[in-house]
Amino acid sequence: MKVFIVYCHPSADSLTRHLRDEFIKGITDSGNEFILSDLYEMGFKTDMSEEEYLRDANYRSTPDVADDVKAEQEKINSADAIAFIYPVFWTEAPAKLVGWFDRVWTYGFAYGEKTMKMMDKALIMVSAGNPLERLESFGLLDSMKKVMFGDRLFGRAAETEFVVFDSTSRENPLREKNWDSNLKKAYEQGLHFFDGIK
Ligand SMILES: Cc1cc2nc3c(=O)[nH]c(=O)nc-3n(C[C@H](O)[C@H](O)[C@H](O)COP(=O)(O)O)c2cc1C
Repeated sequence: MKVFIVYCHPSADSLTRHLRDEFIKGITDSGNEFILSDLYEMGFKTDMSEEEYLRDANYRSTPDVADDVKAEQEKINSADAIAFIYPVFWTEAPAKLVGWFDRVWTYGFAYGEKTMKMMDKALIMVSAGNPLERLESFGLLDSMKKVMFGDRLFGRAAETEFVVFDSTSRENPLREKNWDSNLKKAYEQGLHFFDGIK
């Protein structure tokens, strides 16, 4: 089976990058395949043009979507599942990933007469500087889940999972203390990603 990984972090010198690589190792060690979009590395354009905005806002299928958007949509439709890996920025995905949704989730693909394939599974894997208790206060974690699962992935994935790697701030000693166990957890996420999915 194949998972499309959408990865978004501005630096290779990051825990998130290591989590991504361990996750990939788990995917391949379990005999599965992956495709990767590394949004910063690709320099993926994430501002909508006026033309793109008017197309989607008016529920129109014309003009054709841009080639870079089409390429992302084809990656989705060639995969069985999707995984998003990113650091939490201001209780959201980095702006680059938010812009990826703005441009790739087009009318006629992700809504309207959808041509987007139903994903068997969608996994969100995030690193967060704050401890889990802080993310749970004010319902911050809940709001992240609601936006991803209640909106962006709503009706587009049969199974969903949200995994948080917390207390990863560089000033927090837990970042180093939990480093190896976090990498192991990411590897196991990859290793067991397709368990129970035929
Ligand atoms: C612009 C910015 C905004 C951030 N906002 C949050 C936040 O809202 N909640 C949180 O828990 N961590 C936040 N962080 C911390 C990052 O999530 C943390 O630095 C990252 O997960 C550490 O992992 P890394 O080594 O992969 O960068 C923010 C970091 C930056 C740079």
